[in-house]
Amino acid sequence: MCGIVGYVGEKRAQDFLVSGLKRLEYRGYDSAGIVTVSEKNEATLIRAKGKISDLERKLIDNRRDDKIGIGHTRWATHGEPSEANAHPHQAGSLYMVHNGIIENCKELKKTLKGHQFKSDTDSEVLVALIDSFYKDGEYLLVDAVVQALKLVQGTYGIAVVSTKNPDEIVVARSGSPLVIGVGQDETLIASDASALVGHTKRAIYLNDGEVAVIKKNSIEIKTLNAEPVSAKVEEIETNLSAIQKGGYDHFLLKEIMEQPDSLVETLRGRVDVDNGLVHLGGPGLSEKELRGIQHLIIVGCGTAYHAGMLAAYYIEQFTPEITIETVIASEYRYRQAYIPKNSVALIVSQSGETADTLACLREIKKQGVKTIGIVNVIGSTIAREVDGGTYVHAGPEISVASTKAFTSQVIAMVMFGMTIAQAKGVRNTILKPYVDEIAKLPDEIKNVLAGNREKVKEIAGKYKKYDHAIYLGRDTAYPTAMEGALKLKEVSYTDANAYAFGELKHGPLALVDDRFFETAFLPKGMLYEKAISNVQEVLARGGHVIAVTNNAKFDLKVDDTIKIDTQLEIFVPILMNLISQLFAYYVTVAKGYNVDQPRNLAKSVTVE
Ligand code: AGP
Ligand code: GLU
Repeated sequence: MCGIVGYVGEKRAQDFLVSGLKRLEYRGYDSAGIVTVSEKNEATLIRAKGKISDLERKLIDNRRDDKIGIGHTRWATHGEPSEANAHPHQAGSLYMVHNGIIENCKELKKTLKGHQFKSDTDSEVLVALIDSFYKDGEYLLVDAVVQALKLVQGTYGIAVVSTKNPDEIVVARSGSPLVIGVGQDETLIASDASALVGHTKRAIYLNDGEVAVIKKNSIEIKTLNAEPVSAKVEEIETNLSAIQKGGYDHFLLKEIMEQPDSLVETLRGRVDVDNGLVHLGGPGLSEKELRGIQHLIIVGCGTAYHAGMLAAYYIEQFTPEITIETVIASEYRYRQAYIPKNSVALIVSQSGETADTLACLREIKKQGVKTIGIVNVIGSTIAREVDGGTYVHAGPEISVASTKAFTSQVIAMVMFGMTIAQAKGVRNTILKPYVDEIAKLPDEIKNVLAGNREKVKEIAGKYKKYDHAIYLGRDTAYPTAMEGALKLKEVSYTDANAYAFGELKHGPLALVDDRFFETAFLPKGMLYEKAISNVQEVLARGGHVIAVTNNAKFDLKVDDTIKIDTQLEIFVPILMNLISQLFAYYVTVAKGYNVDQPRNLAKSVTVE
């Protein structure tokens, strides 16, 4: 679920392990630990509940020059966050770190009578199981790992070291990412390439069902069925500045403010303003296939789902004879849904590792439906398993709350929709306004951020005392309201819900009282007047309204108004979402909470 790092080489392993874990901190975790092994076959295990800084304090008296080791940040699934449950876990001469869940741990545990369990984790069951094969010397470590994994149900990314041979780490994965960094006289491992940045640019992404023996100058990979795998070395594109705060107090603010640039990356080489066209390289669908698409399924979780919803509103505006269904991955994977012929599925994920989204991708593929990834993290599992894809190219998103990825996901999907429309022969006059606005969007984002940051900060200070909020919008402003409410609740722990304006009188209006505030998104357009009437209904019942509008003439007496000054008409909801992002950020800062790592959440949810 959270972080794994490992090192074998000529340098002090503890240094990389700690710095690597710090890089992975953004993913959210509750405890951490490292183990290194000396040439004299002695292990030094250090674990701490809480932050890496707690681990570092313990390290002061336990500095070692050992050249091999593994480390972990844990996001508890089995057993409370505590030092005893923190990884690495030990059995015999083995130490292991594990991301994921061993589903059949109870049954396996019953078979492991010889092992004295010291934790409540499922992971300790796995290391004990490996040790049961390894300890008698009948199996090499890698083969003991393979024997054990054959008995396991669930998901795992693991790294194992043995005090008996302190020159190798055995790693394996199924459903939880593992990257091997190829260095000069050193090999590194991490669950996320960002931990490797600055150490090496060369990476091998392990696939599900593969196991590898890693030494300082060699990497041998095979499948669990003992078929050798020839490793493909890929380049890590991320640079160091992309994963540092760059002068901001928090990654969240940095990532909000860098949207003008991250969107430029999404658009690079894809927008042809002169001809009113977009060109996407990745989808891998022929003109004929694109023309034939009659149904789109958009799959995602959380923010990615909201991005899909918003994109769907846009795509259906300009693409004829197409139905679009946006679905939550955790639901869809278990539905008995009929997928019509000529469907294509868009699989949306910032991390490219979300377990539910990945499961949907696999289900959908089984039905012979073409899958297209809308993914940010290059080389991630979803990116590798889809039939084709459009990378979002928003750059590393470190804060748990997704911001810049949302903006880029929406536009990447709209461009995919336009690619279908172009193939279907939709007139250029229909598509051109979209292309023009997309091209202008980065600058418009820059202006809206610069023009409203201070005001939003001021308003946020006023609303931090509220425990309840309702976000409202219609049409394209409805998914915007949903995303705004998610942002506020996940970072500031304010109970925020979103409704389509039209739904208010079907129930939620009963909530409106002094304890709530309502954020109303009011883009000019066909439904503007209707939405204004809905705001009046809220005001008449004593609601506290923050209005967000691009109507310069807006003069309704609400508590607070944020006027967005923009030339855009179509993508105004994306600009309004920036206000939600800033608002959530400033409310959270005002409340003094952990902005980048909200409680109970993890950046990529690789467990179901
Ligand atoms: C966003 O702010 C959330 N932290 C969360 O909803 C996230 O969008 C969701 O878990 C999906 O993640 P993914 O895009 O990496 O698949
Ligand atoms: N299931 C394991 C545990 O609870 C691993 C959790 C993780 O992925 O961090 O310890």
